[in-house]
Amino acid sequence: LVTAVILVAAGSGQRLGYGMPKAAVPLGGEPILMHALRGIVASGISSQVCIALPAGNDGLRRLCEDFREELADGGPLLTIVDGGATRADSVRAGLDALMDGTDAVMVHDAARALTPDSVFHRIADALAAGAEAVIPAIAVVDTVKTVKATAGGGSPAPEVVTGTAPREDLRAVQTPQGFRLPTLQRAHEAARSLDPQQSAAVTDDAMLVEMTGTPVHVVRGSTQSLKITTPLDLILAEGLLEGPLG
Ligand code: C5P
Repeated sequence: LVTAVILVAAGSGQRLGYGMPKAAVPLGGEPILMHALRGIVASGISSQVCIALPAGNDGLRRLCEDFREELADGGPLLTIVDGGATRADSVRAGLDALMDGTDAVMVHDAARALTPDSVFHRIADALAAGAEAVIPAIAVVDTVKTVKATAGGGSPAPEVVTGTAPREDLRAVQTPQGFRLPTLQRAHEAARSLDPQQSAAVTDDAMLVEMTGTPVHVVRGSTQSLKITTPLDLILAEGLLEGPLG
């Protein structure tokens, strides 16, 4: 299958607290974005990598352009697009820039910069075996509960539990998420009619495909694919660079 990767890197990175987009934050002496890009190219699964960057970020754009020159002939086509206001908008900008003849697409968060090759290959294998949609996931170690704000104005605590999900049925979902291109295009087209509140609740691409009724398959993810979000994650990622868990 001719496969493209849309690398979404247009987030603000506010939770990391570096005062710069997360993709630009240094990890082991190099921006997070470069680790993500090198990982995708090294996996060898893609004909095209389309990177959604924060609009107007010349530094990140130059970095990608330099990497494009560094890529030997025969490497994937590197395309740069301006991301949008939401993650889904950034994905849609990527979808609009894919080459004719693309069969499948993987959407990957730049924040999961240390995703091992094996995960890209498990997704590619499931797509090749006929899946319309496939995501990597790992077991959940915490007990997960739903909560709501306390009726009594925060007394004696701000939230109260509304339910406990059975842990054996839960999975923590990662990226890259793989789709046959028409499946993801249809899902994103349908998402245009969501109201703002519904749109804000969309946190991954699989969710949009689920809404269309297409089965989403699950393969094994990796603890190394952590989403670098907080300063603690950055410490963990630095540690993984010293020596992967295997
Ligand atoms: O903020 P969130 O955790 O959803 O970000 C997940 C990924 O989506 C990050 O890699 C981020 O750069 C990307 N993103 C984007 N465009 C946005 C918001 C997030 O490309 N508007």
